Amino acid sequence: MEKQIERQREAEPVEIIRHHEEIQLKQKAEDKRLESLPRVLKYQDIPWTLSANACCKRYTGVTPSALDQRLLNLPLYSLSLLEQVLVPGGKNGGHRHFNEAIFYILEGEGFEIHDGIRYEWEAGDLMCVPTYCVHQHFNRSGEKSARLFFSVPIVFEMLGISRVEQVGLHPDYEIPAGAAITRNERGEMVGYKVEGGLELKLSADLLHLQKMEDKKALAQMTAKPGNKYDQFLNTLGEETRWRQSVPHIIKGKEIPFENTRMGKIKYLLSPYSPSPLLLYDCFIQEIPPGGRSGKHRHLSEEVHKILSGRGYDIQNGKRYDWGEEDVVAIPINTVHQHFNADPRHPATFVSFQSRLYTYLGHGGFEHLEDAS
Ligand SMILES: [Fe+2]
Ligand SMILES: [Fe+2]
Repeated sequence: MEKQIERQREAEPVEIIRHHEEIQLKQKAEDKRLESLPRVLKYQDIPWTLSANACCKRYTGVTPSALDQRLLNLPLYSLSLLEQVLVPGGKNGGHRHFNEAIFYILEGEGFEIHDGIRYEWEAGDLMCVPTYCVHQHFNRSGEKSARLFFSVPIVFEMLGISRVEQVGLHPDYEIPAGAAITRNERGEMVGYKVEGGLELKLSADLLHLQKMEDKKALAQMTAKPGNKYDQFLNTLGEETRWRQSVPHIIKGKEIPFENTRMGKIKYLLSPYSPSPLLLYDCFIQEIPPGGRSGKHRHLSEEVHKILSGRGYDIQNGKRYDWGEEDVVAIPINTVHQHFNADPRHPATFVSFQSRLYTYLGHGGFEHLEDAS
C-alpha cells in the first residue's frame, strides 16, 4: 500500500529577519573600505618589529591575528605580506605552522633547515616552506644582511588551523621583565610564563605531530587500493611523498624570461612546475624603459615588490605611483596595467598571486591589451 504522507501546514514564522539586507549593507561598507585603502606602501614607512621568531616589516598590519590584518593596510583578503631581515651571521627563531609560506630572497645569501634538511639560497631565488614543516632561516654571510620578502595565506586561520609552534627564540628577543623561565629535565629553556599574563611554549604540539607523522606513514603504502576508502588514503600518501621530494628552492638564475602578451615574465612558481606550495603563483616581470605591461584583470589578488626602477600602475582607471622597494597591491577583479616611468632603465618587480581563487572556479580572467 502506498505510504500516505500527511502534509502539515508550515509553521507560522515567529519573526521577520532582515538578514539579506544586512549582508548587502555589510558588503557595501566592505567595498567602501577596500576602495579607500592605499595600493602602494613605502618601504621606509613600515617599521621593523621584533617578535619571538623574527625581525620583520609587516605590510599587512601588526596584529598577530591574520584575519585582523585583512583590509587593514592594503586592500587584501587572502594574502598577508611581510619582509624579514637576517643580520650578518644571524638567524630567526625557527618554528612550524600549518600555513605554507612563500619567500623571495631580495638580498644576501643563506640557507634553510626544513625538517632537518639543509637548502641553500641567494638573492633572486624563491624559497618555499611547505605546510607544517619546522623551518629556520640562516644568513651565511658574516658581512651583509639578508632580506626575505614573504607571504602566508590567511585561509588557514578561517579553517581553524592557524596554530604556530615556536621551537626557538630569535637571538635578540627579550622575554618580558618578571617572567619565570620554564625548563625541561635537562635544564634547557622550554618557555616562559608571566604570572597571570603572557606565556610562550617552545615545543612541538604532540597531538598534531602525531597526525602529520601518520600522514607521512601513508606515503609508505604500496598496496593497490581495493576500494574508494583505500584509494583516498593512497592518494594522500602519494601527494605527501611527492611534495617531500620536490625542490624547496627555485633558482632564479636558472629560469629564462618569456615574452608574453602581458610582457617579459619569468615564472618562478606556476601550476606547471613542481613545488611544495599549493596556494601561490610567483613571477618576475621586467618592463622596458618607457614601456608598459599588458592590461588584464583577474579574480585573484596580486602583490608586487618593486625590485628596481620607478613607474606607476593604472588600476580601474586610477594612477598609483611606485618606486624601488615599494609594495603594490592589486585587489580582486581590478583592471590593471604597469608603466615604467623611466626612459633609460628597465623596471622589475616580483609578483605573488593567490592561486586559491583558481581552486574556487578561476572566475574572471580577462586579457584586455598586449604589452608594448
Ligand atoms: Fe614561518
Ligand atoms: Fe595581474
